Amino acid sequence: MSNEKFLTRRHILWLSLATLTGINACTKDRLWETTTKNKMLNSLARNSKIVGKLSLKERAAAKGLIYGAACESYELSENKEFATYFAQECAILVPENELKWAALRPTPDKFDFDKSDQLLKYAQTHKMLFRGHTFVWHGSFPKWFQEKVNSKNAEKFLTEHIATVASHYAGRIHSWDVVNEAIETKHGRTDGLRNTPWLKFLGSQYIELAFRVAAEADPKALLVYNDYNLEYDYSDSNAKKLAVLKLLERLKSKGTPVHALGIQSHLIASQPHFNTKKLRIFLSDVASLGLKILITELDVRDYKLPADITQRDRMVAAACEEYLSVVLDEKAVIAVLSWGLSDRYTWLKNFAPRPDKLPVRPLPLDSNFQRKLTWNAIARAFDNAPKR
Ligand code: XIL
Repeated sequence: MSNEKFLTRRHILWLSLATLTGINACTKDRLWETTTKNKMLNSLARNSKIVGKLSLKERAAAKGLIYGAACESYELSENKEFATYFAQECAILVPENELKWAALRPTPDKFDFDKSDQLLKYAQTHKMLFRGHTFVWHGSFPKWFQEKVNSKNAEKFLTEHIATVASHYAGRIHSWDVVNEAIETKHGRTDGLRNTPWLKFLGSQYIELAFRVAAEADPKALLVYNDYNLEYDYSDSNAKKLAVLKLLERLKSKGTPVHALGIQSHLIASQPHFNTKKLRIFLSDVASLGLKILITELDVRDYKLPADITQRDRMVAAACEEYLSVVLDEKAVIAVLSWGLSDRYTWLKNFAPRPDKLPVRPLPLDSNFQRKLTWNAIARAFDNAPKR
């Protein structure tokens, strides 16, 4: 059976399941109150057990996995205590914003590597791996981009950018998110591609081009396609899983140097539509394309959870452990990175604040850098994961 047919058949199955899910959504949401929520709250005993002193990076390493996190350069320089905890828990660091276009390209002709170099130096000092994020993303264009870039010069801008940045870090990068978030099935194209300036100027081949230029400039880095909304069982997430698989298949069939899928994993603790079976199938489909998988941006939104911190932390931890226990069963998964390490520094403060304005608690360490139940959840998921 060809992959094409396989996908089509599964597509039909998913569509039917998605329709049923839609019909049942309201009932399910109500059911969630009494089932999932209770289940999560009842997991107190399990979640409260301290699982020993080894750090997350040590537990991951024991299974042939890599654990690390994103951070911004100011966090490490303004808070030495945080820098110490970061080095204690993490074996890989990814700059949260410093390698995005808006940060690197103050003007069309200038590259500013100061902050990303500071992060690389810190990573090297602490013998951590370093990840690159990201060459191609619609979410971080500098102000001048719109005026300056057009269909005549877009290829030059894209290839020069990737070649310059990839060469600057060549040989010192574990993996690069070459293309980030290129799929948006709601934009209505049959290939599922998101409408972005790169698509408008260069057509769908911009993705392949980006990977080829990156591979040439840094032949040692693992080259990753990274995306979000692949974790849950919604009709749009299922459509996205399919579109991502098809994109990866297309790239592979053309011999494009893509080596891994990055699944961002911005989880939502109140999300009832978690489907273990579908997630496993998706992960194994990705693996069967010969690709590795990285969990690149793990955090857990708590905006709809109770204010009470004990209850909230339990639910966040339970969502995290449930997810990781499925994901880590797939041996193609080689790394887990959280999007931040401590609740003191998290993008969710602004992006997904709580309606009651209480501080959000999406990460393994609290705002004073103490280990939370979510730390326990990740630790236990590593401890229970099969060895690579
Ligand atoms: C976010 C950063 O965390 C924020 O500080 C910034 O303001 C916006 O971008 N998916 C991604 C990341 O791939 O680059 C985003 O990072 C979060 C969502």
